Amino acid sequence: MKLYPTHNLEYYNTQFVGGIQETILSNGQSLYHPWWTTGGGNEYRTDFIDYIRSTGKSYQHAYEWCCGHGVIGFEILTQGISQTIAFSDYYDLAVNSCLDNANRLERSNDVFGYITETLSVIPENQKWDLIVGNPPNNPADDIRTEEGIKAGHSQDMIDLGLRIVIDPDWQAHRDFFHHIENHLLPNADLFLTVHQNYIPLIDEMAKEGSSLVYQGFRDITGDLSLKIAHWRSL
Ligand SMILES: C[S@@+](CC[C@H](N)C(=O)[O-])C[C@H]1O[C@@H](n2cnc3c(N)ncnc32)[C@H](O)[C@@H]1O
Repeated sequence: MKLYPTHNLEYYNTQFVGGIQETILSNGQSLYHPWWTTGGGNEYRTDFIDYIRSTGKSYQHAYEWCCGHGVIGFEILTQGISQTIAFSDYYDLAVNSCLDNANRLERSNDVFGYITETLSVIPENQKWDLIVGNPPNNPADDIRTEEGIKAGHSQDMIDLGLRIVIDPDWQAHRDFFHHIENHLLPNADLFLTVHQNYIPLIDEMAKEGSSLVYQGFRDITGDLSLKIAHWRSL
C-alpha cells in the first residue's frame, strides 16, 4: 500500500474540484490550503477547544501531530490558549501550508514546522505542555481501496484518501508514543481523536512508551464513534 503519493499542487488545482480552500478561524482570520490537507479538523475543532479549555490551564508551547492544514493548532494559537505551536506531518504540502499561513498571519516567530513521519527527528529541546492530534484512526482498510477501484478513481486519489484515514498496523501511533516522553513538559495535556473501541489499545501504547495517564474522553458532535481522548503527564 503506497501511503505517500507525490502530489503536485498545479495538477490537483486543474484536475480536481476544490483546489485551494479557505478555512475561516474563530477570530475571523483565514487559512488558505489545498483542500486535500484537511481530514475532519474543521468539524472537530470546537470540541477540541472546549475540552482543552475545560482544564482551566493556559499553555506555553503546543504541538499538533498529523497537522494537515493545522486548523486545531491555529485555533489554539489565535485564541491565545498557547504562546507557540509546532506542527508536524509527513505530507510536505500540509506543513508548508501551515508555515505559509503563519507567515501571512504574521505569526512566523510563534510557529514551527516539521515534515516527518517520526518524532525521532524533532529536536529534543522542543518541549510541549499541550499536544493535540487528529491522526489516521484505522489500522487497515482494504475495502476503501476496492471501492475506489470499482468507482473508477485513480490510484493517486485512492492513496490520498488512505493517507488521511489509515495508520498501517498503528505504526505512526507507536512511533508517536515511543518518542513523546522526551518532548513533554511537566503536567502536559494530550488530546487525540480515537475511535471509542480503540481507546484501550491506544492507552496500552501510551503506557508502554510514556508517563502519560489516561483521563477520559468526550464525544465529537455529529460523530457517533470518534471521540477525543485525554491523557496527562506526571
Ligand atoms: C485525519 S488527517 C487530519 C488532518 C488535519 N489535522 C485535520 O484535522 O483536518 C491525518 C493527517 O495525518 C497525516 N499522516 C498520516 N500518516 C502519518 C505519519 N505516519 N506521520 C505523519 N503524518 C501522518 C496525513 O498526511 C494527514 O494530514
